[in-house]
Amino acid sequence: MSHRISINREPDIISAVTVAYTEMSNSPYSILEKQQIIVTISELCKNILFHSNSTGYVFIERIQKGIRITAIDDGVGIASIEDVINGIKNPHSKGLGLGLTGVKQMMDVFMIESPEQGGTKVIVEKWYGRIPSTKLTLFEGRKSTE
Ligand SMILES: Nc1ncnc2c1ncn2[C@@H]1O[C@H](COP(=O)(O)OP(=O)(O)O)[C@@H](O)[C@H]1O
Ligand SMILES: [Mg+2]
Repeated sequence: MSHRISINREPDIISAVTVAYTEMSNSPYSILEKQQIIVTISELCKNILFHSNSTGYVFIERIQKGIRITAIDDGVGIASIEDVINGIKNPHSKGLGLGLTGVKQMMDVFMIESPEQGGTKVIVEKWYGRIPSTKLTLFEGRKSTE
């Protein structure tokens, strides 16, 4: 079952988190893993609300291996994904600049796409009882030199 939650304003974060809790209620996730999933959803929603200059959606779906969260917006996009992934802080951000690097560490699959024409898509998966070596990271977007 896949759920689509519109992210237009801050209370929508609560809606997304509530959907995730319901989806995880009969899952083998530990309390820590559930918290990691909730923090991830919250960080991805906050990025849409505070950075995209637009609105977006979060999709939450149970997959065979666990849970998949997709956050999509058609906003301004990320100027340099490389910097973000390497934890180099955007000087204009009021945040700690560690949201996406944290998400990347907490999840088993982390894919981010922010093409030249704008918009941002982040797909993450958290697996049940993962094996550390199966971790996958992919990113596609503008380079800092461009
Ligand atoms: N959906 C998005 N749209 C546009 N820019 C984004 C988006 N998500 C992240 N960013 C950019 O990436 C930077 C790093 O994001 P993040 O790691 O969550 O840290 P923080 O939100 O604390 O700045 C942000 O400061 C912002 O410039
Ligand atoms: Mg953030």
